[in-house]
Amino acid sequence: MIDIYTIIQKLPKNVNYIGVLTGSGISSESGIPTFRGKDGLWKNYRPEELATPYAFQKNPVLVWEWYEMRRQVIKNAKPNPAHNSIVEMEEFFENFLLVTQNVDGLHEKAGSKNLIELHGNIWRARCTYCDYKEFLNTPIEKIPPACPKCGHLLRPDVLWFGESYDVKILNNVQSFFNKCDVIFVIGSSGQVFVPVYLVKQAQLQGSFIVEVNIERSLYTSFADIFIPEKAAESLPVLWREWKNSLK
Ligand code: APR
Repeated sequence: MIDIYTIIQKLPKNVNYIGVLTGSGISSESGIPTFRGKDGLWKNYRPEELATPYAFQKNPVLVWEWYEMRRQVIKNAKPNPAHNSIVEMEEFFENFLLVTQNVDGLHEKAGSKNLIELHGNIWRARCTYCDYKEFLNTPIEKIPPACPKCGHLLRPDVLWFGESYDVKILNNVQSFFNKCDVIFVIGSSGQVFVPVYLVKQAQLQGSFIVEVNIERSLYTSFADIFIPEKAAESLPVLWREWKNSLK
């Protein structure tokens, strides 16, 4: 187990702004496979085959079937103690922002409010043509589904490889992260560049970076503290002890 007291000593004491960035690793203890881990979702497919506009255009049925399979895998997943600790952080600090790369909806299920889903949400579909959006609470009858408003194809409301981020959202995240006294990076490999950039830029503005990951990632080389532990086990302990030290 980590030496929690040494870590608490290193954490900033005067804290007004807190940021959290999560990746699929935080959901792995809720039973959801990560993308690139040994049990990863990518193990049977290459991302380029599925999570791209080209893949969808070429074979919308395969892409919808893959997302439907993922929804079936995650529909009974419950937030774990790491998700719950992040909700407690949000309630404790006046200035808090959670940015997730996850599309599983578990942070929202846990009760996180000040939340940005950088890569969208697997439980939402949107029309490829008009502004129609819907929540997919039940299994899709006909794949690929058509827009009830205009008849065009619906697509998963997620960000695919090769698609661009909403720059307004990125700017909002960057300006908040730059003000953060501490940013927690939890369960991300750092394989996707933009989130790494957001965190690194914030560190250059003075943010203290704490990474929780069961193995080294692309964040580890610059994180101020690296906690090589499972998030659901270590984050609740870290949060409890740090919160007590802040009182
Ligand atoms: N606790 C902490 N970290 C964990 C745990 C755990 N219990 N289990 C796995 N991890 C770590 C792994 O070591 C890995 O570094 O979580 C990370 C998961 O990395 P990826 O599978 O690459 O997922 P992520 O970083 O979220 O991927 C980013 O890439 O595929 C795209 O859009 C997709 O949002 C995703 C993005």
